[in-house]
Amino acid sequence: MKALVYHGPGERGWDNVDDPAIADPGDAIVRIDSSTICGTDLHILKGDVPAVQPGTVLGHEAVGIVEEVGRGVSTLAVGDRVLLSCITSCGRCRFCKEARYGQCLGGGGWIFGHLIDGLQAEYARVPFADNSVHKVPAGLTDEQVLFLADILPTSYEVGVLNGTVRPGDVVAIVGSGPIGLAAMLTAQLFTPGHIVAIDLDDGRLEAARRFGADVTVNNGAEDAVAAVMELTEGLGADVSVEAVGVPESFELAADLVRPGGHIANVGVHGRAATLHLERLWIRGVTVTTGLVDTYSTPQLLKLVASGRLDPTLFATHRFPLGATMAAYDVFSDAATTGALKVVLQGAEQTSGAPASAGAEVTAGVA
Ligand SMILES: NC(=O)c1ccc[n+]([C@@H]2O[C@H](COP(=O)([O-])OP(=O)(O)OC[C@H]3O[C@@H](n4cnc5c(N)ncnc54)[C@H](O)[C@@H]3O)[C@@H](O)[C@H]2O)c1
Ligand SMILES: [Zn+2]
Ligand SMILES: [Zn+2]
Repeated sequence: MKALVYHGPGERGWDNVDDPAIADPGDAIVRIDSSTICGTDLHILKGDVPAVQPGTVLGHEAVGIVEEVGRGVSTLAVGDRVLLSCITSCGRCRFCKEARYGQCLGGGGWIFGHLIDGLQAEYARVPFADNSVHKVPAGLTDEQVLFLADILPTSYEVGVLNGTVRPGDVVAIVGSGPIGLAAMLTAQLFTPGHIVAIDLDDGRLEAARRFGADVTVNNGAEDAVAAVMELTEGLGADVSVEAVGVPESFELAADLVRPGGHIANVGVHGRAATLHLERLWIRGVTVTTGLVDTYSTPQLLKLVASGRLDPTLFATHRFPLGATMAAYDVFSDAATTGALKVVLQGAEQTSGAPASAGAEVTAGVA
């Protein structure tokens, strides 16, 4: 089969690789119909995630059809349409029993495109298949559910739920990339009073307005703290969500929050950020951090099925799976292309549509 293979920092290829095969009775083999690229894949390609060995197939988000199941799989059948989530679960360890699947000690957690071959491929082997995939409710398209593989549960669990967003709250979100935008989308499930989007890029702030922000601040040109204080009678935001992953954005998120408020860190940090306890000790704030667990995915699927949540807004570009190399170029140049999420469409999705390699099937933000 063909797959997007990591060959070490800066190197990737659309290569012929061996078809995946059942290796454990709990495995399933899934044909990939839709996949996508994550900012984390770009981090891997920069060499920031040394655990990823050269030769690994990348990708940890997909929708597909079960092609084969191991003899230990009891809840899935050949032909089932499933969402493959970024997090898998052994179902037996201490953390899986607490629904903290991201921390799985039994060989699950974030393994696709990290510790085992991933999902930017024609087929994938899915370990712990009974615990790790979600059947797609009938009538939903791939694009309606694809972004529930990672960014929606990440921002909902680690941003909105950890931050305890409540009706009427002022929610300040630092960073309007896919993660910040997904926080804006899912924060609205709690009817906040205001959603303030903060970013250095005006294009991203424009997207933020489409995703539900009613106040946008370019913190390269304006004072974000002053803007939030003005909106909150000098108190600060009830909840601030850090969705960038650099020291400045964390420190800004901490400066934005009111006494008794929550700072929910979602960003992945490579450098130390300062927690200003000399200012915060008296303010009674809560700081939370976390990796997505995906315990909320079934709830999010129900919200999509009932029409209360529409993640299709993220799909700015579509490519046939065979043009994954070109899709990486577009996704990694988001400042120019305006890409939020690119959809990689398997043969089933593109049948009937022109699928010339390198061409976008459709492009552009609505
Ligand atoms: N905790 C988790 O489980 C988890 C899961 C997935 C991703 N993440 C992390 O979430 C973060 C965001 O992911 P993404 O895909 O949206 O990234 P992204 O790079 O697409 O978006 C980041 C946004 O932040 C903006 N930005 C950069 N510096 C800024 C600053 N100083 N102030 C304000 N805005 C600034 C950029 O313009 C960009 O729009 C990353 O660190 C990613 O690794 C965490
Ligand atoms: Zn991801
Ligand atoms: Zn486990």
